[in-house]
Amino acid sequence: MRQFFPVEDLARDERFVQTNMAERMADTRTARPERVPKSKSRAASAKLTPERREASDAARGLMHGIMTGEIQALEGAGRTAHDFATGDGTNDTIPFALKLDMARQAWDEARHVEISAKLSDWMGTELGEFVENTVLFAAACSDDPILRLAGVNRALEGLAIDVFTQMKEFGDLAGDPFLEFCEDWMLADEVTHVKMGSDWLRRVTEKDPDRRAKALEFQQVVDKMFSFGGLRGDSDESPIALARRFRELAGFSDDEVEVISDMDREALDERKAQVRFAREAAGMQPEPA
Ligand SMILES: [Fe+2]
Ligand SMILES: [Fe+2]
Repeated sequence: MRQFFPVEDLARDERFVQTNMAERMADTRTARPERVPKSKSRAASAKLTPERREASDAARGLMHGIMTGEIQALEGAGRTAHDFATGDGTNDTIPFALKLDMARQAWDEARHVEISAKLSDWMGTELGEFVENTVLFAAACSDDPILRLAGVNRALEGLAIDVFTQMKEFGDLAGDPFLEFCEDWMLADEVTHVKMGSDWLRRVTEKDPDRRAKALEFQQVVDKMFSFGGLRGDSDESPIALARRFRELAGFSDDEVEVISDMDREALDERKAQVRFAREAAGMQPEPA
């Protein structure tokens, strides 16, 4: 069987439309940060809740994104189990126990694909109604399996923990037990996948600080890419909160969570500066504080 499969060769039928990150985020139905007026009570927040005007499209878009992410997570874990020879983790090999973890993950992701496809249908979404962003599989194409674990298991599945937590809460608030419980079950698996990434990264790079530093740097690049201009973060203006407790369970240290939180805040500030600049360039009044 062929090894090292490029992202361009992913098998998809005509229902799928693939795109890059910029185009995906330009879709106006996407959940996005919202300015929260200072005059409102502390409860004011941009969190994704059913009473928000665009909640239905935003939730459907997120669910469709989760489904295509699950397909790529299945493909990525399968590739990592297959692409590398068995060994001690050095010289392009991976320990057999890591292969078994990847195989278990592929099994979990296959179940998540089915659950997410059924949830999407339940929410009234057709497959292909939203575009597929293939960044997750691209992060699973690195020649170094430890970079794959850093980029996919820690950065992107870390983001999945945040998104699933928010969707579970959305299901609860919307009175939709199917959405609430399905997200809860998938969340439990994702915490395990992120923990696998955290544990293997530390174990395999124990005596190779340079490789560890490179992997953590790659993780930060992927995390930054998915900070989505403040979509995820601790701020009230971010629709997706940083799920600190679940990240702790998944093997993130407090310092690592703070780094992500700082990065999210920077991404939100950058986006706000861009909006300000665009309003000024269009001769519009600045938004009231
Ligand atoms: Fe998953
Ligand atoms: Fe996963």
